[in-house]
Amino acid sequence: MAGVTFDRVTKCFGDVVAVDDLSLDVFDEEFLVLLGPSGCGKSTALRMIAGLEEPSEGTIEIGESIVNDVEAKDRDVAMVFQSYALYPHMSVRKNIEFPLRTRKVASDEREKLVHDAAESLGLETLLDRKPAQLSGGQRQRVALARAIVRRPKVFLMDEPLSNLDAKLRVQTRAELIELQRELATTVIYVTHDQVEGMTMGHRIAIMADGKLQQVGPPQAVYDHPANLFVAGFIGNPPMNTVSGPIVRTASDPAGSFGIGVEGTVIPLPAGHCAAIERSGAKTVVLGVRPEHLRPATEGGLVATVAVIESLGHERHVDCRLADGQMVISRLSSSEPAPLVGERVNLTVDPLELHIFDGVTEEAIETT
Ligand SMILES: Nc1ncnc2c1ncn2[C@@H]1O[C@H](COP(=O)(O)OP(=O)(O)OP(=O)(O)O)[C@@H](O)[C@H]1O
Ligand SMILES: [Mg+2]
Repeated sequence: MAGVTFDRVTKCFGDVVAVDDLSLDVFDEEFLVLLGPSGCGKSTALRMIAGLEEPSEGTIEIGESIVNDVEAKDRDVAMVFQSYALYPHMSVRKNIEFPLRTRKVASDEREKLVHDAAESLGLETLLDRKPAQLSGGQRQRVALARAIVRRPKVFLMDEPLSNLDAKLRVQTRAELIELQRELATTVIYVTHDQVEGMTMGHRIAIMADGKLQQVGPPQAVYDHPANLFVAGFIGNPPMNTVSGPIVRTASDPAGSFGIGVEGTVIPLPAGHCAAIERSGAKTVVLGVRPEHLRPATEGGLVATVAVIESLGHERHVDCRLADGQMVISRLSSSEPAPLVGERVNLTVDPLELHIFDGVTEEAIETT
């Protein structure tokens, strides 16, 4: 078992900086999800751990050893790909057994290990089939069994569920969480799906344009996104953001002020104002999670209901402000919903407001 450390790792492909000065500690026995949009450098980061790409700069450690000069086959990591990459002419048993054969494990030991891996993934009855005779979910499980069979120090998984249908994805997600717990091994799991990140990771590391944006437990990242990118990426629907000038009025209590949005001023608590003053921000962007934007009879932002999306257990009420900015309020289905075309007042508990510097887009910490 082992942790993995990136220390100031950069990877360039010609002019493209795929991974940019990445420093990240993945702990022993941790389930870390590397999350970000397409092209942000997730697979490249993972492939550098596996030894399939060489860093342009920086070092990678597995356990206590720097592995930059260690060949892929000697790194004791196993990788599972989106494409499964099973050998089509081999049976399930032979596929799972393959990494043991290449390591010249004795046949009785091989048999036991294959049996254990197949059992933990529910594949015992499928061992004599060929991959073509399996469903997508079963194939994915064979790929996982082949990865776990030799008990590597670290598992690397690159979007392993993205070929599965929605229902099977949810089921396999839960199985993977259990499997990681049982094996008590380090898993680094790449995905662009923020729901997988939220549900599976002990921590998530969010990347954009090759750069690490934030790393932390999922709930902490949801509650305290470090910048506007993370705020917009984590959460569905994403956090609402509205921008406006800092407005001071004579009636403001000492030291506090508001943000002008659409003809009204959203007052900020004194602590938020002090934080903005300290940060020196000239303009700010307010962020509000959809569940914190509540219809009310008066006050707040005035908006017109444009669309209502009903999801069964909840409704997303998409509202247009007078200047065209859209905001979404998330309501439980048991709450009364406004009608399309209706004018509504949307209020927010000021303590639920997130504040970002309008120029740097970094969060302004209010606590
Ligand atoms: N072998 C390569 N040669 C040139 N550019 C590459 C190579 N591999 C990756 N890149 C570029 O590096 C960047 C990061 O690619 P990477 O595959 O790591 O992204 P990703 O986050 O895994 O994306 P996705 O979610 O689409 O799989 C992209 O701009 C990509 O085009
Ligand atoms: Mg990728």
